[in-house]
Amino acid sequence: MSLVRWCPTRAIHRGLYLIVLWSSLCYLIFRFSGQDDTASFVNSNTKFVPLEAEPLIDRKPTPSELDLANQIQKNVPNLPIIYWQKYRGKLMKMNRTCAKFPSLYDINYNNMYWQILKSSNWSFYLYGAYYDNRTLVAMKPVIRILGMNDRLDQKVKIYCQLWFEGHTQPVFSQVFEYNLMWYKRWGDYTKGTFKPYMIACQIPPGYKHLVPESVSLVEKPCDMAKTNLRVINNRPEHGKKEDFAVCVKGLDFLHDDLSVRLVEWLELLFLVGANKVFFYQLEVHHNISKVLNYYQNQGKVEVTPITLPGEQPNIPGLLHMYLKSKLTNKRLNELIPYNDCLYKNIYRYKYIVLLDTDEIIMPKGVMNWKELMDTVIIPKALQTKKTLQASYNVRNVYFMDNMKYSQDWYIKIPNYMHMLQHVSRSVNYTKPRQYVKCFHDPEQVLTLHNHFPLSCLGGNCTTYDIETADAHLQHYRTDCVKTLKRSCDKEFRNNTIIDTTIWKYRDLLISQVTKVLVRLDFFNPRRGN
Ligand SMILES: *[C@@H]1O[C@H](CO)[C@@H](O)[C@H](O)[C@H]1NC(C)=O
Ligand SMILES: *[C@@H]1O[C@H](CO)[C@@H](O)[C@H](O)[C@H]1NC(C)=O
Ligand SMILES: *[C@@H]1O[C@H](CO)[C@@H](O)[C@H](O)[C@H]1NC(C)=O
Ligand SMILES: *[C@@H]1O[C@H](CO)[C@@H](O)[C@H](O)[C@H]1NC(C)=O
Ligand SMILES: *[C@@H]1O[C@H](CO)[C@@H](O)[C@H](O)[C@H]1NC(C)=O
Ligand SMILES: *[C@@H]1O[C@H](CO)[C@@H](O)[C@H](O)[C@H]1NC(C)=O
Ligand SMILES: *[C@@H]1O[C@H](CO)[C@@H](O)[C@H](O)[C@H]1NC(C)=O
Repeated sequence: MSLVRWCPTRAIHRGLYLIVLWSSLCYLIFRFSGQDDTASFVNSNTKFVPLEAEPLIDRKPTPSELDLANQIQKNVPNLPIIYWQKYRGKLMKMNRTCAKFPSLYDINYNNMYWQILKSSNWSFYLYGAYYDNRTLVAMKPVIRILGMNDRLDQKVKIYCQLWFEGHTQPVFSQVFEYNLMWYKRWGDYTKGTFKPYMIACQIPPGYKHLVPESVSLVEKPCDMAKTNLRVINNRPEHGKKEDFAVCVKGLDFLHDDLSVRLVEWLELLFLVGANKVFFYQLEVHHNISKVLNYYQNQGKVEVTPITLPGEQPNIPGLLHMYLKSKLTNKRLNELIPYNDCLYKNIYRYKYIVLLDTDEIIMPKGVMNWKELMDTVIIPKALQTKKTLQASYNVRNVYFMDNMKYSQDWYIKIPNYMHMLQHVSRSVNYTKPRQYVKCFHDPEQVLTLHNHFPLSCLGGNCTTYDIETADAHLQHYRTDCVKTLKRSCDKEFRNNTIIDTTIWKYRDLLISQVTKVLVRLDFFNPRRGN
């Protein structure tokens, strides 16, 4: 029983609000029409004169083509739009009948971010191109191109046309490496299923000192190209590598509002020492966008929109249903963002970490990843393996939703802190090297899969198994992964212990997360709480 219900405050507020709104509108109309009160309004509360009204539309001037190009470049990093604008109209080609520089209007686009190289027998959907002159690359420097192909084991001859700043003619180079980013035993090779590939062209002698601006893929060297990808060569801003980049595959949470969970996850990542988190976005809830925009404006997060290539559904909602029911297609598609994230960061970070938003690599004896790697893992790895490894993997352990206890000591933790609340985990880890996550060394890995490198430079991939006493992967789920469901109860769910390692960040994490949630208006002060 509350006294408030006897006060008609809500009605009064609403009335006042309407009056204020209405008077402002009238004021604007009069102000800009130069009319006085009585001329157009018989009664200012009821009559509105459309002939005099000025609707509030965006009156910013139309951006210049250069502004537009910069904006497009930001949204679609694989498009060489700045370069094209600079040389548009200049004669850029091998000769009159050979290898003309394609206008951006000649490109065969697909689903926003893909470009198609089509032959009679196959189509190659290109996503990105990268300059690679890492020390261990035997043929360096090379241009690597990521894409998906609808035919398995494509070994046809195709060519790169490389375009350099200030040169009016392209340089030809035949593709010398086809790297299928998938193990055949993982299955699904029905014709028409897209397979993720990374292919490479060498930069020919005479041009090795130059970084190409863009690359076109063609079947025959002189073809008029229908593709043109900007060559990505991101170098560290201050000349020195930062420590850790985290990569997150295409977010598909249109209806799942994971925004608050995401804030807790990001803040914990920053506390353990992630320098920046790179997201790919298929479709997300508007509250998640709000969170991502906030961190993006702070420079701590980068969000790259992505679609599925070809004739796969990109219709909001249907996309989610498709990925849920076609698990192999989902996995095949994921290889592109993982490897794009690797290649745009090879020179900028010491380690690349692929994580899902329900996973955290938890250091045990130390406070953060840098201490973990520098003072624990690297010395141990050097001692047992003698050399630096391509990756350092951590074991996976489940923290399941229904494992939560309601004990007194949780009282000081707000309900909205999912990870801090869930400190009960299964005793058993999943098997060594299964469902693991890694710190990848970008100087050594060639292609990445979700859990481990698929291929490495200079031979077989090496890995160091991080001991569970030093760190492990905390995996927050409602259930075991599909492949472990049958044994889930017996091996994991019925055998739990309390693991409060995460509480070493408790106070800082609560205050950081709460600050952000308040700033983003997640708590409505008028309703209290
Ligand atoms: C144009 O260049 C190509 C490749 O270098 C060459 O094979 C061809 O003969 C040239 N054609 C003309 C008309 O110069
Ligand atoms: C296309 O496929 C046919 C039949 O398999 C083959 O004879 C032909 O050489 C292929 N063409 C190309 C360009 O790969
Ligand atoms: C790679 O290219 C960059 C310029 O993009 C250059 O500064 C660097 O020295 C090159 N590194 C190697 C190993 O060739
Ligand atoms: C890579 O691994 C394979 C299979 O284990 C082995 O046969 C081969 O000798 C290894 N290659 C190198 C360069 O170590
Ligand atoms: C796991 O625990 C549940 C509930 O305590 C029980 O019903 C079930 O039989 C147990 N399963 C196994 C395999 O021990
Ligand atoms: C999991 O734990 C049970 C005991 O609770 C044990 O019998 C079993 O061998 C363990 N399984 C694995 C895969 O470690
Ligand atoms: C989250 O979404 C709901 C539903 O659209 C909306 O009512 C709420 O205001 C949003 N929260 C924030 C913080 O924007």
